[in-house]
Amino acid sequence: MTEQIDWWRGAVIYQVYPRSLHDSNNDGIGDLQGIIEKLDYIASLGVDAIWISPCFKSPMKDFGYDISDYRQIDPIFGDLADFDQLIEKAHALNIKVMIDQVLSHTSDLHDWFSESRQNKTNDKSDWYVWADPNPDGTPPNNWQSIFGGPAWQWDSRRCQYYLHNFLASQPDLNFHNPDVQQAVLDNVEFWLKRGVDGLRLDAITYCFHDQALRDNPAKPEELRAGRGFSEDNPYAYQYHYYNNERPENLGFIEKIRALLDKYPGAVSLGEISSEDSLKTMAEYSEGDHRLHMTYSFELLTNDYSTGYVQETVSTLEEALSDGWPCWAVGNHDVARVVTRWGHNTQNPDFPKMVTAMLGSLRGSLCVYQGEELGLTEAEVPYDKLQDPYGIEFWPTFKGRDGCRTPMPWDDKKVNSGFSEGSPWLPVDASHLAKSVNLQEADPDSVLNAYRTFMAWRKQQPALINGDIEFIESAEQVLMFKRTDAHSGQKLLVAFNFSDQLIKTQAAQLPNLVQIPLKCHKNGEINGQELTIPPFGVFFSTFQ
Ligand code: BGC
Repeated sequence: MTEQIDWWRGAVIYQVYPRSLHDSNNDGIGDLQGIIEKLDYIASLGVDAIWISPCFKSPMKDFGYDISDYRQIDPIFGDLADFDQLIEKAHALNIKVMIDQVLSHTSDLHDWFSESRQNKTNDKSDWYVWADPNPDGTPPNNWQSIFGGPAWQWDSRRCQYYLHNFLASQPDLNFHNPDVQQAVLDNVEFWLKRGVDGLRLDAITYCFHDQALRDNPAKPEELRAGRGFSEDNPYAYQYHYYNNERPENLGFIEKIRALLDKYPGAVSLGEISSEDSLKTMAEYSEGDHRLHMTYSFELLTNDYSTGYVQETVSTLEEALSDGWPCWAVGNHDVARVVTRWGHNTQNPDFPKMVTAMLGSLRGSLCVYQGEELGLTEAEVPYDKLQDPYGIEFWPTFKGRDGCRTPMPWDDKKVNSGFSEGSPWLPVDASHLAKSVNLQEADPDSVLNAYRTFMAWRKQQPALINGDIEFIESAEQVLMFKRTDAHSGQKLLVAFNFSDQLIKTQAAQLPNLVQIPLKCHKNGEINGQELTIPPFGVFFSTFQ
């Protein structure tokens, strides 16, 4: 493989949530032309690729994750010509374009579902997961949907239930039918032919279901937390052995890979959520016949400690054979990391340290728009809420709107320069002080720290491709080595997760030569002792 084809190893993938990046036509919703206008900014971040959350035709019940036509751009976002223009400009700026492919379910307004629900005999009658009710009319089993309540919706035309792991308006396709698999792959190929460089595969573990429809076993109360589900969600009360991560999935992801291999350089990034996501990440990215990269929610939870990060990364490393991880601390589904991990700290060194830590782990990384500004979770009042998940579980879980509010571009402009129309979600007042214009003018800002770190990281083969080995250190300090056999580069890195100055034993490594990072608080070595300021970082070469 040439380097060009392996571009994704160690790559930085910037996630664009198109509704909220930039609105070019002032209807209050971001669009493809808005992305095009901001591509120079994105390029200035030094990212290798963008992943665009779904921009396909959709009734927007789940804001694009419910697709009614896989081959059309939703008119809210633009059209195919805009999409082609986006690819062209991104490529001219040396940015790859990855699209979000939502394969496990469609919108209930998709033509396939309209046909399937008509009766039990039409050509697409088994393209979705239909099941008869129990004799007492109840759903066929105990499966729960992630967005709340039973995973079965009654359909009076067929007098049957259909399966939906997410909203009732997101019916699950029946992947046991080979025609469904082929139709889905044909849709994917449509975009590969159009020149996209990769796919983020949404909810990819959910494609298949247990055909015997066995009940999921109950999960003990103490194991219900984590993985982004609110604990008051009945979904958290079960082990999802039968509606998720079925063994047949592996065969299907191998078909996706075979298709991608026809388009040199095109890659896949699978979103993994299972009972043992780290193991599944390893399994789904094994060999060169499955997915190129996988990521999971393990660093997207509220767990913020050096022990947790080390344990998570080490467990994955042990499980991985030749698979390739991708890490994220933020996305459009979870609260912003400065709020989740940092408890809304005003200290800019916190987001700077988190980015440097994320960018030093072995693997590729996804960075969610606004993370480079150190945005906090926005406060969205109930009457402005859009996310059906939040509306369902309010007030114990406020949903995902707080991480989806518009990007603050310019504190002097109306709606922070996002749109002159009324934005679909309010701009958070506290985000104005973190606007791009202000941070660009401040050489020491979170944004400039992001840029300088990412530009420097690109030149460090040990960070892009090296092995990782953790070193025991003070409890609040995450310390590890990255070593790249090919270039011979060896790096020692350390991060202070706390807001206190920490003194710890320096690693016993020969010829440590520190590399102070511009815009960060750097630790210092003195004899045997490493001193790291609050949320500080330490990078050093060794022999
Ligand atoms: C996406 C969510 C979406 C769900 C259903 C996910 O994992 O990231 O935003 O609601 O899939 O498609």
